[in-house]
Amino acid sequence: MILIIYAHPYPQHSHANKKMLEQASLLPDVEVRSLYELYPDFNIDIAAEQQALNRADLVIWQHPMQWYSMPPLMKLWIDKVLAHGWAYGHGGTALRGKQVMWAVTTGGGDHHFDLGDHPGFDVLGQPLQATALYCGMNWIPHFTIHFTFVCDENTLEVQAEMYKQRLLDWQEANHG
Ligand SMILES: Cc1cc2nc3c(=O)[nH]c(=O)nc-3n(C[C@H](O)[C@H](O)[C@H](O)COP(=O)(O)O)c2cc1C
Repeated sequence: MILIIYAHPYPQHSHANKKMLEQASLLPDVEVRSLYELYPDFNIDIAAEQQALNRADLVIWQHPMQWYSMPPLMKLWIDKVLAHGWAYGHGGTALRGKQVMWAVTTGGGDHHFDLGDHPGFDVLGQPLQATALYCGMNWIPHFTIHFTFVCDENTLEVQAEMYKQRLLDWQEANHG
């Protein structure tokens, strides 16, 4: 099962992520948990989230980039759900061997991330990657849609279809 942990603070205003979810939802065995809709008060149901993770073979962390990082509810989700004794530490083996993918949309293009000596876009996924590795998960290449500010709806649709294809390829490779 593919589990999409989706953190968009304004899901009703989304263009890029909405299309990605519409495409992903066409596939079987895909579960989406829209954190801002499930937890508008930021009161995360940790047990429900851990149960969803238990069901997953591939976990996707999907969000729009905000200030070179993730929206705050996704950070809180990580802090609360990836608990000691469950995700890491003594007896914390629940996530071991699961795969994880970062799916992120950005307003800017590649050059937006070249600031002075800053090493650019790829480094921004490192806190998530390190978190995943610490929990014994396998990090697979990320999926990105850049330039969401300037892409027209057609271009976004094509990229969303590529997202679905990535997931389908993963399903075929892992269960095919
Ligand atoms: C508070 C805030 C901060 C943002 N910070 C960035 C940023 O650091 N870099 C960037 O490329 N885009 C940034 N954006 C743009 C969003 O990433 C972009 O609007 C989003 O990916 C589009 O996806 P959507 O159509 O699903 O909303 C920011 C947007 C908001 C609202």
